[in-house]
Amino acid sequence: SFVTSKQMLLDAQAGGYAVGAFNAENMEMVQAIIAAAEEVKAPVMIQTTPSTVKYASLALYLANVKAEAEKASVPVCIHLDHGSSFELAMQALRTGYTSIMIDGSHSVFEENIALTKRVVDACAPSGVPVEAELGKVGGKEDDLDGGAGGYTVPEEAKEFAEKTGVDSLAVAIGTAHGVYSGVPKLDLDRLTEIRKLVDIPLVLHGASGLSDDAVRESIRRGICKVNFATELRIAYSDGVKKVLSENPEVFDPKKYGAVGRENVKQLVMNRMKVCGCDGRA
Ligand code: 13P
Ligand code: ZN
Ligand code: NA
Repeated sequence: SFVTSKQMLLDAQAGGYAVGAFNAENMEMVQAIIAAAEEVKAPVMIQTTPSTVKYASLALYLANVKAEAEKASVPVCIHLDHGSSFELAMQALRTGYTSIMIDGSHSVFEENIALTKRVVDACAPSGVPVEAELGKVGGKEDDLDGGAGGYTVPEEAKEFAEKTGVDSLAVAIGTAHGVYSGVPKLDLDRLTEIRKLVDIPLVLHGASGLSDDAVRESIRRGICKVNFATELRIAYSDGVKKVLSENPEVFDPKKYGAVGRENVKQLVMNRMKVCGCDGRA
């Protein structure tokens, strides 16, 4: 079924697991993510970044997700990931997205609060939940460079949640977008401190490249949504490359798309089991 992210995140928080949120770039990835959710009986979030939305359109990704979600027995939502402006957030809302992130983490604290609150107030009448970000997740996501450092300050997270009324909050505890060069060092005690002060669902970005143990420990300490993007792009492209390099005569996009799609499905099922959201729908 096609739903908002509200109840699935509250259920995850109450149940001590996390909903997997997976970035899709094309129809095949949307199909793969929902097929994985169906197979392991998991609620799922499918998300698109601003550069993904620019590649096609909000309406096209929404149509793909909605068509598949309506056939599915599990709850599925479509989320704007790293929404980069008030205007884009409103376009997503009007188009029919059922979950929206406004990423004001590149602004100073007070500006991030003001921008987030504006989006929260605008989305409230439609019942569409909003995710915000406080602190800087490292690495390069989309066209934005996260830069280094800037861990979330627990007291600021509390004030931020109270002043904005936001539904969920992405925190910076040492993860980064993209693949890691070494083993990332997560500040898990900081996560525990944030959890003590903040009672809305917390979100972990940059999960591609994190060990299963690191993901599980973050969830144990209060993460309710885990974002995976790069791993899916790699899985899809690896499948396509394998087919085309082994069979250079292939020209039917369905031939290599099907293999990329199956790769993504397997990856997503594995990550859902690590998040503990399997069997929850
Ligand atoms: P990764 O690309 O590291 O999986 O990060 C995903 C993410 O945070 C999407 O918002
Ligand atoms: Zn992210
Ligand atoms: Na990552």
